[in-house]
Amino acid sequence: MTNQTAVLELEKVSVTYVEGQRRIPAVRGVSLSVKPNEIVGVVGESGSGKSTLAFAIMRLLRSAQVQGTIRVMGQNMFDLGPRELRKFRWQTISMVFQSAMNALNPVMTVESQIADTIRYHRPEVSRDQILQRIDELAELVRIDRARFRNYPHELSGGMRQRVVIAIAIALDPQVVIMDEPTTALDVVVQRTLLERVMEVQRHTRFSILFISHDLGLVAEIVNRVAIMYAGRIVELTSGRLIQQTDVPHHPYTQGLLAAIPRLTAQSVVVRGIPGTPPDMAHLPVGCPFAPRCAAAMPQCRAVDPPLAMIDGTIIACHLFESNEGGA
Ligand SMILES: Nc1ncnc2c1ncn2[C@@H]1O[C@H](COP(=O)(O)OP(=O)(O)OP(=O)(O)O)[C@@H](O)[C@H]1O
Ligand code: SF4
Ligand SMILES: [Mg+2]
Repeated sequence: MTNQTAVLELEKVSVTYVEGQRRIPAVRGVSLSVKPNEIVGVVGESGSGKSTLAFAIMRLLRSAQVQGTIRVMGQNMFDLGPRELRKFRWQTISMVFQSAMNALNPVMTVESQIADTIRYHRPEVSRDQILQRIDELAELVRIDRARFRNYPHELSGGMRQRVVIAIAIALDPQVVIMDEPTTALDVVVQRTLLERVMEVQRHTRFSILFISHDLGLVAEIVNRVAIMYAGRIVELTSGRLIQQTDVPHHPYTQGLLAAIPRLTAQSVVVRGIPGTPPDMAHLPVGCPFAPRCAAAMPQCRAVDPPLAMIDGTIIACHLFESNEGGA
């Protein structure tokens, strides 16, 4: 069903990479919507399909098989021709790529890179208007305007990442996908960057799909969060409920919550989830989390549980039975 108010709407999106005889179902039936001014987190361990989902939304997957529906501002992404798609990307939906701060052009100043992005997508815009927009962007991401005349290597990691965010919002898109925007930074810089992202978002009111493997970080900023495991969403809940332990959570989410470092009187305690994610080319029958799940039952190894509404949270797990008429 089309949700008219969603800026981004995914219905049963699946992505399969094909490598000779090997089929890797990296994303499996993901349905998710992002509303105006909303920040939605996508959290999961490495290999859970987060970046693949982002590439599918941006229509950047050339050889993979993509199924399902992806709508951005009501527009079906698969109906766009190459020219329309080029216009749509960056002006309506943009993306901060994983490790993007290392992909800035080393031989161009930051200012030239931002100017090029604007000129490429809006050739009609005058030089003065571009310079005015660059001034605004410097203020938004809080980088001294003079530093925009530097080359990327002359800036710190945190500044480079803020430049990448400035480029992503240069054309004032309605939705920005941020794929692990803070991961390469140290903890203090991560926090500053997150605060900056929140500040810019409050100011310009775009929606964000915020991808991360760090539930603790994401929980602080999101309105809602989707937990991904082996290409599927296994839990979808509100930012308010995600860190509460007295509400139902998928066993995988419980593991992620337990893995958030907690400060005790003497030390920082970090607990991980035992085991490793499945090989996506050889998924087990039933619930893919079963080999790592302390609560696994015989039926878990036979049937992959569907998503169901449990006390306002959507969870795919045999431990829970829908009490709100399904998801
Ligand atoms: N181009 C590709 N060809 C084949 N398989 C791929 C390709 N890109 C990703 N995969 C596989 O798809 C699955 C999902 O990968 P993806 O990069 O989307 O995960 P991720 O959640 O973004 O992980 P990370 O946290 O490490 O960034 C993994 O099993 C990965 O090995
Ligand atoms: S369905 Fe079974 S194996 Fe999967 S998370 Fe729930 S209890 Fe664990
Ligand atoms: Mg990734």
